[in-house]
Amino acid sequence: MKIAVPKERDPQEGRVAATPDTVKKFKGLGAEVVVEAGAGLKSRIPDADYEAAGATLASDPAAVLADADIVLTVRRPNPGDVRGAKPGALLIGALDPYGQKEAMQGLADAGYAAFAMEFMPRITRAQVMDILSSQANLAGYRAVIDASAEYDRAFPMMMTAAGTVSAAKVFVMGAGVAGLQAIATARRLGAVVTATDVRPAAKEQVASLGAKFVAVEDEEFKQAETAAGYAKPMSAEYQAKQAALVAEHIKKQDIVITTALIPGRPAPRLITAEMVRSMRPGSVIVDLAVERGGNVEGSVAGEVATVDGVKILGHLNMAGRVAASASLLYAKNLYAFVETLIDKKEKKLAVNWDDELVKATLITKDGQIVHSALKS
Ligand code: NAI
Repeated sequence: MKIAVPKERDPQEGRVAATPDTVKKFKGLGAEVVVEAGAGLKSRIPDADYEAAGATLASDPAAVLADADIVLTVRRPNPGDVRGAKPGALLIGALDPYGQKEAMQGLADAGYAAFAMEFMPRITRAQVMDILSSQANLAGYRAVIDASAEYDRAFPMMMTAAGTVSAAKVFVMGAGVAGLQAIATARRLGAVVTATDVRPAAKEQVASLGAKFVAVEDEEFKQAETAAGYAKPMSAEYQAKQAALVAEHIKKQDIVITTALIPGRPAPRLITAEMVRSMRPGSVIVDLAVERGGNVEGSVAGEVATVDGVKILGHLNMAGRVAASASLLYAKNLYAFVETLIDKKEKKLAVNWDDELVKATLITKDGQIVHSALKS
């Protein structure tokens, strides 16, 4: 049983899908692991560490993939880059499959049973495999660190002989995994933190981190959470009420971090250009939803935009900006899933295609797209 770990082809991607720790564990399951030379460098993992953990290094991408049973990736690879594995091999990664039918069909044509880790159900058994949580948590942390670096003032209140510096006011929009970590990080830096969300469950979580909850709490708000724990798209009436509240609140904020997402849809627009202009110069906005179209009018993917003295950070791949930590957690998430696909006694692949985790994450099989969310 061969597991292949190719180098990520996107030059912006610093993460890697396996670490020396997970290589050791895969070896323990009886697998042979082949890592492409240099795959871990941007996550501070030298080739020698993979070798010491029992992996074989290969510089030729074709040799990495040749006859692989499982290919582990961070991003969805181009089908042409991952040819050569065994027919029917498993490809496991953050495949970002929504709206990517053609690319997914390409992986199906390349012979893969492809699994999108972001579709992992959020049930207790699969918590250890939850890449959305492990990566969003770091993204929320990094958003605050980036904001503090761009901000020309201090975060904590400082009472000194020379005068008092007031604490930064931070507003976090969307209190899911990333938002809650952003709140915690901003609090640790000494900011005064408020937060909003459309899910009522968020209210208590925000309060437990020492931040104040600000939201339109009407009847619709009480129904805004799906059974899966995600937000529903809100009505135009709710959005108008939310915008009025936010417009008033945002004027007094120094830093705004937006993280609002709805699975499979464009990100809700929460901050208008007018709201941006209402903030004082030197304020900083971080739009963590920029990859999904953005929560902020004027945010530009991959750039720091300045609008009337307000900086809008549109960094892509926030978790990748903490690559070494992100890889550590991501690789563990993948290992935990792969472990369930292997017969430990026989030391070979034994996928139970009826398992709920497999059914939820499997996108392509036998040359076809098989996931209901992508079929239509
Ligand atoms: P997400 O990344 O899909 O969205 C981020 C946040 O934006 C969510 O809290 C969402 O309610 C909020 N949002 C959406 N539209 C909004 C709007 N118009 N205005 C303001 N906020 C808006 O969500 P994430 O971080 O994946 O978390 C979703 C839920 O799943 C949370 O309750 C989280 O605690 C829960 N969860 C459960 C897990 C488990 O049971 N294993 C693991 C991880 C998260």
